[in-house]
Amino acid sequence: MILLGPPGAGKGTQAASLVEEYGVVHLSTGDILRDAVANGTELGKQAKAYMDAGDLVPDELVIGVIRERLAREDIREQGVLLDGFPRTIAQAEALGEVMGELELGELVVLNISVADEVLIERLSGRRMCDSCEAIFRLDRDGVDVGDECPKCGAGKIYQRSDDQPEAIAERLRTYHEKTAPLIGYYSQRGLLIDVDGSGTPDEVHRLVMGRLS
Ligand code: AP5
Repeated sequence: MILLGPPGAGKGTQAASLVEEYGVVHLSTGDILRDAVANGTELGKQAKAYMDAGDLVPDELVIGVIRERLAREDIREQGVLLDGFPRTIAQAEALGEVMGELELGELVVLNISVADEVLIERLSGRRMCDSCEAIFRLDRDGVDVGDECPKCGAGKIYQRSDDQPEAIAERLRTYHEKTAPLIGYYSQRGLLIDVDGSGTPDEVHRLVMGRLS
């Protein structure tokens, strides 16, 4: 399954409940890249400047990561939820090829739509745990930078470097130019399920489950 949607649509939030519901492997290219940056790996060094600016990391880097990860046995056994990949037509084409080579079966694409002004509000208020990657909102959950994570108790709360106003604006621009064309791409192939993501997380989850069933 692919989770498609603009930054702040709630892909990570919905992914957490879908993984619980279906027991599939959660593969978030954003999480993989942030880990690589935090660990100072070669991938992280190459990706950091693009991410901080709100740009996409070059296709060949991300496709390499996904190609290697999809070949592992757990994906074949459990299925996979791709969160944040593909993000360009070139990535979608590469995914099709890899799935064919690995004989990975059918694809469902879930597109979560939310208006830009709501996305900006959500991203500005997002806070994350540096250990379990849980996602919070400053206004709703009352956690802020430096607090102990209320979910795992082990991590500290931080704000993502790309959740600053300039980077948010650039991410939205990049989304409309490079990622939104995937809606037509998958719709033409009869694979797209569209869900309104403007309700509360629980409301969106119910819509998603209804459409998937
Ligand atoms: P990535 O981590 O994938 O970021 P993104 O797509 O910009 O998406 P976000 O994680 O910002 O938002 P989300 O939709 O998951 O929303 P969330 O659930 O957190 O990518 C980061 C960067 O990595 C990219 O900019 C790029 O540089 C690089 N990258 C990643 N993949 C790449 C690829 N394939 N190719 C090239 N480069 C790549 O929710 C947001 C906030 O809203 C939270 O605070 C949450 O609590 C709240 N919220 C969620 N749902 C609701 C709701 N229904 N109502 C109210 N609040 C809600």
